[in-house]
Amino acid sequence: MSSSILVTGGAGYIGSHIVLQLLLGGYKAVVVDNLDNSSEIALKRVKDLAAENGPNLTFNKIDLRDKPALEKLFASEKFDAVIHFAGLKAVGESVEKPLMYYNNNLIGTITLLEVMAAHGCKKLVFSSSATVYGWPKVVPCTEESPVSAMNPYGRTKLFIEEICRDLHLSDSSWKIILLRYFNPVGSHPSGYLGEDPRGIPNNLMPFVQQVAVGRRPALTVFGTDYGTKDGTGVRDFIHVVDLADGYIAALNKLSDPSVGCEVYNLGTGKGTSVLEMVAAFEKASGKKIPLVKASRRPGDAEILYGSTEKAERELNWKAKYGIEEMCRDQWNWASKNPYGYDSTN
Ligand code: NAD
Ligand code: UFG
Repeated sequence: MSSSILVTGGAGYIGSHIVLQLLLGGYKAVVVDNLDNSSEIALKRVKDLAAENGPNLTFNKIDLRDKPALEKLFASEKFDAVIHFAGLKAVGESVEKPLMYYNNNLIGTITLLEVMAAHGCKKLVFSSSATVYGWPKVVPCTEESPVSAMNPYGRTKLFIEEICRDLHLSDSSWKIILLRYFNPVGSHPSGYLGEDPRGIPNNLMPFVQQVAVGRRPALTVFGTDYGTKDGTGVRDFIHVVDLADGYIAALNKLSDPSVGCEVYNLGTGKGTSVLEMVAAFEKASGKKIPLVKASRRPGDAEILYGSTEKAERELNWKAKYGIEEMCRDQWNWASKNPYGYDSTN
Protein backbone atom coordinates (compact mmCIF):
# COMPACT_ATOMS: atom_id res chain seq x y z
CA MET A 1 0.00 0.00 0.00
CA SER A 2 1.35 3.48 -0.83
CA SER A 3 2.42 5.84 1.97
CA SER A 4 -0.11 8.45 2.97
CA ILE A 5 1.29 11.92 3.60
CA LEU A 6 -0.62 14.77 5.22
CA VAL A 7 0.33 18.12 3.68
CA THR A 8 -0.73 21.19 5.66
CA GLY A 9 -0.93 24.33 3.51
CA GLY A 10 -0.88 22.05 0.47
CA ALA A 11 -3.01 24.39 -1.67
CA GLY A 12 -0.37 27.14 -1.43
CA TYR A 13 2.45 28.02 -3.79
CA ILE A 14 5.10 25.62 -2.53
CA GLY A 15 2.64 23.08 -1.10
CA SER A 16 0.85 22.53 -4.43
CA HIS A 17 4.17 21.77 -6.16
CA ILE A 18 5.12 19.28 -3.46
CA VAL A 19 1.71 17.60 -3.58
CA LEU A 20 2.18 17.05 -7.32
CA GLN A 21 5.66 15.54 -6.78
CA LEU A 22 4.23 13.26 -4.08
CA LEU A 23 1.46 12.01 -6.37
CA LEU A 24 3.88 11.45 -9.25
CA GLY A 25 6.13 9.55 -6.81
CA GLY A 26 3.29 7.15 -5.95
CA TYR A 27 2.35 8.65 -2.57
CA LYS A 28 -1.16 9.37 -1.36
CA ALA A 29 -1.51 13.04 -0.43
CA VAL A 30 -4.08 14.43 1.98
CA VAL A 31 -4.18 18.23 1.99
CA VAL A 32 -5.35 20.37 4.89
CA ASP A 33 -5.68 24.08 4.09
CA ASN A 34 -8.01 26.89 5.15
CA LEU A 35 -7.56 28.56 1.72
CA ASP A 36 -6.71 31.88 3.41
CA ASN A 37 -3.95 32.50 0.89
CA SER A 38 -4.66 29.98 -1.84
CA SER A 39 -7.20 28.63 -4.29
CA GLU A 40 -8.70 25.18 -4.60
CA ILE A 41 -8.16 25.52 -8.35
CA ALA A 42 -4.47 24.83 -7.72
CA LEU A 43 -5.37 21.40 -6.35
CA LYS A 44 -7.70 20.66 -9.29
CA ARG A 45 -4.77 21.39 -11.58
CA VAL A 46 -2.46 19.21 -9.49
CA LYS A 47 -4.91 16.35 -9.96
CA ASP A 48 -4.94 16.89 -13.73
CA LEU A 49 -1.16 17.04 -13.94
CA ALA A 50 -0.86 13.86 -11.88
CA ALA A 51 -3.03 12.06 -14.49
CA GLU A 52 -3.79 8.49 -13.32
CA ASN A 53 -2.38 9.30 -9.86
CA GLY A 54 -4.73 12.28 -9.47
CA PRO A 55 -7.33 10.33 -7.48
CA ASN A 56 -4.69 9.80 -4.76
CA LEU A 57 -5.20 13.43 -3.69
CA THR A 58 -7.85 14.46 -1.18
CA PHE A 59 -8.55 17.92 0.17
CA ASN A 60 -9.96 19.01 3.55
CA LYS A 61 -10.77 22.66 4.14
CA ILE A 62 -9.64 22.84 7.77
CA ASP A 63 -7.92 25.53 9.80
CA LEU A 64 -5.05 23.91 11.69
CA ARG A 65 -6.18 25.55 14.89
CA ASP A 66 -9.49 23.69 14.68
CA LYS A 67 -8.44 20.78 16.88
CA PRO A 68 -11.70 18.78 16.73
CA ALA A 69 -11.62 18.87 12.90
CA LEU A 70 -7.98 17.75 12.87
CA GLU A 71 -8.72 15.02 15.43
CA LYS A 72 -11.52 13.73 13.23
CA LEU A 73 -9.23 13.59 10.21
CA PHE A 74 -6.48 11.71 12.09
CA ALA A 75 -9.09 9.31 13.50
CA SER A 76 -10.35 8.54 10.00
CA GLU A 77 -6.98 7.88 8.39
CA LYS A 78 -3.46 6.79 9.32
CA PHE A 79 -0.68 9.07 8.08
CA ASP A 80 2.89 7.91 7.59
CA ALA A 81 4.26 11.45 7.88
CA VAL A 82 3.25 15.11 7.83
CA ILE A 83 4.72 17.89 5.69
CA HIS A 84 3.87 21.17 7.35
CA PHE A 85 3.62 24.34 5.23
CA ALA A 86 0.52 26.02 6.65
CA GLY A 87 1.29 29.46 7.99
CA LEU A 88 1.25 33.16 7.30
CA LYS A 89 4.41 34.43 5.61
CA ALA A 90 4.31 38.16 4.85
CA VAL A 91 7.15 39.80 6.74
CA GLY A 92 5.72 43.36 6.74
CA GLU A 93 2.28 42.19 7.83
CA SER A 94 3.86 40.25 10.68
CA VAL A 95 5.38 43.49 12.00
CA GLU A 96 1.97 45.21 11.90
CA LYS A 97 -0.03 42.26 13.24
CA PRO A 98 2.30 40.19 15.43
CA LEU A 99 -0.48 38.54 17.43
CA MET A 100 -2.13 37.31 14.25
CA TYR A 101 1.18 35.70 13.21
CA TYR A 102 1.89 34.15 16.61
CA ASN A 103 -1.67 32.90 16.84
CA ASN A 104 -1.79 31.35 13.38
CA ASN A 105 1.73 29.97 13.06
CA LEU A 106 2.40 28.88 16.65
CA ILE A 107 -1.04 27.70 17.73
CA GLY A 108 -1.55 26.02 14.35
CA THR A 109 1.72 24.11 14.73
CA ILE A 110 1.21 23.18 18.38
CA THR A 111 -2.29 21.91 17.63
CA LEU A 112 -0.94 19.84 14.76
CA LEU A 113 1.85 18.35 16.91
CA GLU A 114 -0.58 17.51 19.72
CA VAL A 115 -2.92 15.70 17.37
CA MET A 116 -0.03 13.89 15.67
CA ALA A 117 1.27 12.73 19.07
CA ALA A 118 -2.17 11.56 20.16
CA HIS A 119 -2.45 9.42 17.02
CA GLY A 120 1.12 8.06 17.09
CA CYS A 121 2.17 9.90 13.92
CA LYS A 122 5.64 11.17 14.80
CA LYS A 123 7.31 11.94 11.47
CA LEU A 124 7.41 15.58 10.41
CA VAL A 125 9.03 17.75 7.75
CA PHE A 126 8.69 21.41 8.72
CA SER A 127 9.05 24.42 6.39
CA SER A 128 11.41 26.68 8.24
CA SER A 129 13.18 29.47 6.39
CA ALA A 130 16.53 31.02 5.66
CA THR A 131 15.07 34.10 7.33
CA VAL A 132 16.33 32.54 10.60
CA TYR A 133 19.88 33.57 9.57
CA GLY A 134 18.87 37.24 9.91
CA TRP A 135 21.58 39.49 8.45
CA PRO A 136 24.45 36.99 8.35
CA LYS A 137 28.00 38.17 9.05
CA VAL A 138 29.40 35.32 6.99
CA VAL A 139 28.01 33.70 3.84
CA PRO A 140 27.30 31.06 2.73
CA CYS A 141 25.17 30.25 5.79
CA THR A 142 25.63 26.75 7.10
CA GLU A 143 23.23 24.95 9.40
CA GLU A 144 25.60 25.92 12.26
CA SER A 145 25.53 29.66 11.48
CA PRO A 146 24.10 31.88 14.24
CA VAL A 147 20.35 32.39 14.04
CA SER A 148 18.31 35.46 14.85
CA ALA A 149 14.95 36.84 13.88
CA MET A 150 14.41 40.27 12.37
CA ASN A 151 10.59 40.27 12.59
CA PRO A 152 7.67 38.31 14.13
CA TYR A 153 7.37 36.05 11.07
CA GLY A 154 11.01 34.99 11.44
CA ARG A 155 10.52 34.54 15.18
CA THR A 156 7.66 32.10 14.58
CA LYS A 157 10.06 29.98 12.51
CA LEU A 158 12.73 30.09 15.25
CA PHE A 159 10.19 29.26 17.97
CA ILE A 160 8.78 26.33 15.99
CA GLU A 161 12.28 24.97 15.40
CA GLU A 162 12.86 25.09 19.18
CA ILE A 163 9.49 23.46 19.89
CA CYS A 164 10.45 20.62 17.54
CA ARG A 165 13.83 20.16 19.27
CA ASP A 166 12.16 20.06 22.70
CA LEU A 167 9.60 17.58 21.45
CA HIS A 168 12.29 15.26 20.16
CA LEU A 169 14.26 15.62 23.42
CA SER A 170 11.16 14.60 25.36
CA ASP A 171 10.39 11.61 23.12
CA SER A 172 13.10 10.28 20.82
CA SER A 173 10.60 8.36 18.71
CA TRP A 174 9.83 11.66 16.94
CA LYS A 175 11.66 12.05 13.61
CA ILE A 176 11.73 15.67 12.51
CA ILE A 177 13.43 17.45 9.62
CA LEU A 178 13.54 21.24 9.62
CA LEU A 179 14.10 22.60 6.11
CA ARG A 180 15.56 26.08 5.98
CA TYR A 181 15.03 27.12 2.47
CA PHE A 182 16.05 30.23 0.66
CA ASN A 183 14.04 32.09 -2.02
CA PRO A 184 11.73 29.78 -3.95
CA VAL A 185 10.79 31.09 -7.39
CA GLY A 186 9.60 29.72 -10.72
CA SER A 187 6.72 27.44 -11.47
CA HIS A 188 5.92 23.97 -12.66
CA PRO A 189 7.20 23.76 -16.28
CA SER A 190 3.66 23.06 -17.53
CA GLY A 191 2.68 26.64 -16.63
CA TYR A 192 -0.43 25.34 -14.84
CA LEU A 193 0.86 25.79 -11.27
CA GLY A 194 2.52 28.89 -9.86
CA GLU A 195 2.54 31.62 -7.27
CA ASP A 196 -0.63 33.68 -7.00
CA PRO A 197 -0.32 36.03 -4.03
CA ARG A 198 -3.31 37.97 -2.74
CA GLY A 199 -3.01 41.77 -2.99
CA ILE A 200 0.26 43.57 -3.73
CA PRO A 201 3.09 41.02 -3.92
CA ASN A 202 5.75 41.34 -1.21
CA ASN A 203 8.29 39.20 -2.97
CA LEU A 204 10.48 40.12 -5.89
CA MET A 205 9.49 37.66 -8.61
CA PRO A 206 5.70 37.79 -8.20
CA PHE A 207 6.03 41.58 -8.44
CA VAL A 208 8.26 41.38 -11.53
CA GLN A 209 5.79 38.99 -13.12
CA GLN A 210 2.90 41.40 -12.55
CA VAL A 211 4.87 44.24 -14.14
CA ALA A 212 5.60 42.01 -17.14
CA VAL A 213 1.90 41.27 -17.74
CA GLY A 214 0.95 44.94 -17.36
CA ARG A 215 -0.72 44.77 -13.96
CA ARG A 216 1.80 47.17 -12.38
CA PRO A 217 3.80 49.97 -13.99
CA ALA A 218 7.27 49.40 -12.52
CA LEU A 219 9.32 47.41 -10.04
CA THR A 220 10.54 49.32 -7.02
CA VAL A 221 14.10 48.23 -6.25
CA PHE A 222 14.60 48.40 -2.50
CA GLY A 223 18.19 49.48 -1.93
CA THR A 224 20.85 50.26 -4.53
CA ASP A 225 23.60 51.11 -2.06
CA TYR A 226 24.41 47.68 -0.60
CA GLY A 227 28.00 46.50 -0.59
CA THR A 228 27.26 44.04 -3.39
CA LYS A 229 28.40 43.77 -7.03
CA ASP A 230 25.69 46.16 -8.32
CA GLY A 231 24.44 47.69 -5.06
CA THR A 232 21.24 45.61 -4.87
CA GLY A 233 20.43 42.80 -2.42
CA VAL A 234 21.72 39.29 -3.11
CA ARG A 235 19.65 36.12 -2.56
CA ASP A 236 19.82 32.39 -3.15
CA PHE A 237 16.94 31.78 -5.57
CA ILE A 238 15.82 28.17 -5.87
CA HIS A 239 13.45 26.67 -8.44
CA VAL A 240 10.27 25.49 -6.72
CA VAL A 241 10.50 22.11 -8.50
CA ASP A 242 14.00 21.59 -7.06
CA LEU A 243 12.56 22.48 -3.67
CA ALA A 244 9.80 19.90 -4.15
CA ASP A 245 12.44 17.26 -4.89
CA GLY A 246 14.25 18.33 -1.71
CA TYR A 247 11.07 17.66 0.27
CA ILE A 248 10.78 14.15 -1.18
CA ALA A 249 14.43 13.55 -0.24
CA ALA A 250 13.72 14.76 3.31
CA LEU A 251 10.66 12.53 3.52
CA ASN A 252 12.77 9.51 2.52
CA LYS A 253 15.37 10.49 5.12
CA LEU A 254 12.73 10.20 7.88
CA SER A 255 12.94 6.41 7.50
CA ASP A 256 16.64 6.49 8.41
CA PRO A 257 16.85 5.24 12.03
CA SER A 258 19.68 7.71 12.77
CA VAL A 259 17.42 10.75 12.23
CA GLY A 260 16.32 12.64 15.33
CA CYS A 261 15.63 16.33 14.83
CA GLU A 262 17.77 17.56 11.94
CA VAL A 263 18.07 20.84 10.07
CA TYR A 264 18.98 21.21 6.38
CA ASN A 265 19.44 24.19 4.11
CA LEU A 266 17.82 23.95 0.68
CA GLY A 267 19.18 26.41 -1.84
CA THR A 268 21.55 26.51 -4.80
CA GLY A 269 24.54 27.83 -2.89
CA LYS A 270 24.75 30.76 -5.36
CA GLY A 271 23.97 34.42 -4.74
CA THR A 272 22.13 36.42 -7.42
CA SER A 273 21.43 40.14 -7.16
CA VAL A 274 18.03 41.75 -7.66
CA LEU A 275 19.22 43.40 -10.89
CA GLU A 276 20.68 40.15 -12.20
CA MET A 277 17.37 38.43 -11.56
CA VAL A 278 15.44 41.19 -13.33
CA ALA A 279 17.80 40.96 -16.32
CA ALA A 280 17.34 37.18 -16.49
CA PHE A 281 13.56 37.62 -16.40
CA GLU A 282 13.67 40.29 -19.14
CA LYS A 283 15.66 37.88 -21.30
CA ALA A 284 13.29 34.97 -20.68
CA SER A 285 10.13 37.00 -21.26
CA GLY A 286 11.24 39.51 -23.86
CA LYS A 287 9.55 42.17 -21.68
CA LYS A 288 11.17 45.33 -20.38
CA ILE A 289 10.74 45.77 -16.62
CA PRO A 290 10.79 49.50 -15.76
CA LEU A 291 12.63 50.16 -12.49
CA VAL A 292 12.18 52.75 -9.76
CA LYS A 293 15.09 53.03 -7.33
CA ALA A 294 14.13 53.34 -3.67
CA SER A 295 15.72 53.15 -0.27
CA ARG A 296 16.37 49.87 1.53
CA ARG A 297 13.38 47.91 2.83
CA PRO A 298 13.55 47.71 6.64
CA GLY A 299 14.48 44.25 7.86
CA ASP A 300 16.17 43.17 4.61
CA ALA A 301 19.55 41.47 4.74
CA GLU A 302 22.25 42.56 2.32
CA ILE A 303 23.46 39.14 1.16
CA LEU A 304 21.81 35.83 1.97
CA TYR A 305 22.81 32.55 0.41
CA GLY A 306 23.42 29.15 1.84
CA SER A 307 25.73 26.20 1.83
CA THR A 308 23.90 23.12 0.61
CA GLU A 309 26.69 20.64 1.39
CA LYS A 310 24.83 18.96 4.24
CA ALA A 311 21.72 18.33 2.11
CA GLU A 312 23.89 17.05 -0.75
CA ARG A 313 25.74 14.69 1.57
CA GLU A 314 22.92 13.43 3.78
CA LEU A 315 19.79 13.82 1.65
CA ASN A 316 21.52 13.03 -1.63
CA TRP A 317 19.82 16.09 -3.11
CA LYS A 318 21.16 18.97 -5.16
CA ALA A 319 19.33 21.74 -7.02
CA LYS A 320 19.38 21.18 -10.79
CA TYR A 321 18.02 24.43 -12.15
CA GLY A 322 19.57 27.88 -12.56
CA ILE A 323 18.03 31.34 -12.83
CA GLU A 324 17.39 30.95 -16.59
CA GLU A 325 15.06 28.00 -15.98
CA MET A 326 13.47 29.75 -12.97
CA CYS A 327 12.66 32.83 -15.08
CA ARG A 328 11.56 30.77 -18.11
CA ASP A 329 9.06 28.80 -16.01
CA GLN A 330 7.91 31.85 -14.06
CA TRP A 331 7.15 33.61 -17.34
CA ASN A 332 5.40 30.54 -18.76
CA TRP A 333 3.07 30.57 -15.73
CA ALA A 334 2.61 34.38 -15.84
CA SER A 335 1.85 34.55 -19.54
CA LYS A 336 -0.66 31.69 -19.32
CA ASN A 337 -2.23 33.00 -16.09
CA PRO A 338 -1.77 36.79 -15.98
CA TYR A 339 -4.33 37.04 -13.19
CA GLY A 340 -3.28 33.86 -11.43
CA TYR A 341 -5.83 31.15 -10.80
CA ASP A 342 -8.65 33.69 -11.15
CA SER A 343 -7.92 33.85 -14.90
CA THR A 344 -9.84 30.62 -15.23
CA ASN A 345 -12.76 31.57 -13.03
P1 NAD B 1 1.43 30.14 0.76
O1 NAD B 1 0.77 31.25 1.50
O2 NAD B 1 1.22 30.06 -0.71
O3 NAD B 1 1.00 28.74 1.42
C1 NAD B 1 0.65 28.61 2.77
C2 NAD B 1 -0.70 27.91 2.84
O4 NAD B 1 -1.08 27.71 4.20
C3 NAD B 1 -1.81 28.71 2.17
O5 NAD B 1 -2.48 27.87 1.24
C4 NAD B 1 -2.73 29.11 3.32
O6 NAD B 1 -4.08 29.20 2.92
C5 NAD B 1 -2.47 28.00 4.32
N1 NAD B 1 -2.69 28.34 5.72
C6 NAD B 1 -2.23 29.41 6.42
N2 NAD B 1 -2.63 29.36 7.70
C7 NAD B 1 -3.37 28.22 7.82
C8 NAD B 1 -4.05 27.61 8.91
N3 NAD B 1 -4.08 28.16 10.13
N4 NAD B 1 -4.71 26.45 8.69
C9 NAD B 1 -4.71 25.87 7.46
N5 NAD B 1 -4.09 26.41 6.40
C10 NAD B 1 -3.43 27.57 6.58
O7 NAD B 1 2.99 30.20 1.10
P2 NAD B 1 4.21 29.39 0.47
O8 NAD B 1 5.10 30.36 -0.21
O9 NAD B 1 3.74 28.22 -0.26
O10 NAD B 1 4.97 28.98 1.81
C11 NAD B 1 4.72 27.75 2.45
C12 NAD B 1 5.56 27.66 3.72
O11 NAD B 1 6.94 27.82 3.41
C13 NAD B 1 5.23 28.73 4.76
O12 NAD B 1 5.29 28.14 6.05
C14 NAD B 1 6.34 29.74 4.60
O13 NAD B 1 6.59 30.43 5.79
C15 NAD B 1 7.50 28.85 4.21
N6 NAD B 1 8.54 29.57 3.45
C16 NAD B 1 8.18 30.29 2.32
C17 NAD B 1 9.16 30.98 1.62
C18 NAD B 1 8.80 31.80 0.40
O14 NAD B 1 9.58 32.68 0.03
N7 NAD B 1 7.69 31.52 -0.28
C19 NAD B 1 10.49 30.93 2.03
C20 NAD B 1 10.82 30.17 3.15
C21 NAD B 1 9.82 29.50 3.86
N1 UFG C 1 12.79 43.39 -3.60
C1 UFG C 1 12.70 44.55 -4.34
N2 UFG C 1 11.46 44.95 -4.75
C2 UFG C 1 10.32 44.26 -4.45
C3 UFG C 1 10.44 43.05 -3.69
C4 UFG C 1 11.69 42.66 -3.28
O1 UFG C 1 13.70 45.20 -4.62
O2 UFG C 1 9.23 44.68 -4.85
C5 UFG C 1 14.14 42.94 -3.17
C6 UFG C 1 14.27 42.89 -1.66
O3 UFG C 1 14.59 44.13 -1.14
C7 UFG C 1 15.37 41.83 -1.50
C8 UFG C 1 15.13 40.87 -2.67
O4 UFG C 1 14.35 41.61 -3.62
O5 UFG C 1 16.62 42.43 -1.65
C9 UFG C 1 14.37 39.62 -2.28
O6 UFG C 1 13.18 39.98 -1.60
P1 UFG C 1 11.93 39.00 -1.39
O7 UFG C 1 10.87 39.75 -0.71
O8 UFG C 1 11.59 38.33 -2.69
O9 UFG C 1 12.53 37.85 -0.49
P2 UFG C 1 13.21 37.93 0.95
O10 UFG C 1 14.61 37.48 0.78
O11 UFG C 1 12.99 39.24 1.60
O12 UFG C 1 12.36 36.88 1.78
C10 UFG C 1 11.90 35.64 1.23
C11 UFG C 1 10.55 35.30 1.86
C12 UFG C 1 10.70 34.97 3.30
C13 UFG C 1 11.75 33.92 3.47
C14 UFG C 1 13.04 34.33 2.84
C15 UFG C 1 14.04 33.23 2.92
O13 UFG C 1 9.66 36.40 1.73
O14 UFG C 1 9.49 34.45 3.78
O15 UFG C 1 12.82 34.65 1.46
O16 UFG C 1 15.24 33.65 2.41
F1 UFG C 1 11.94 33.70 4.78
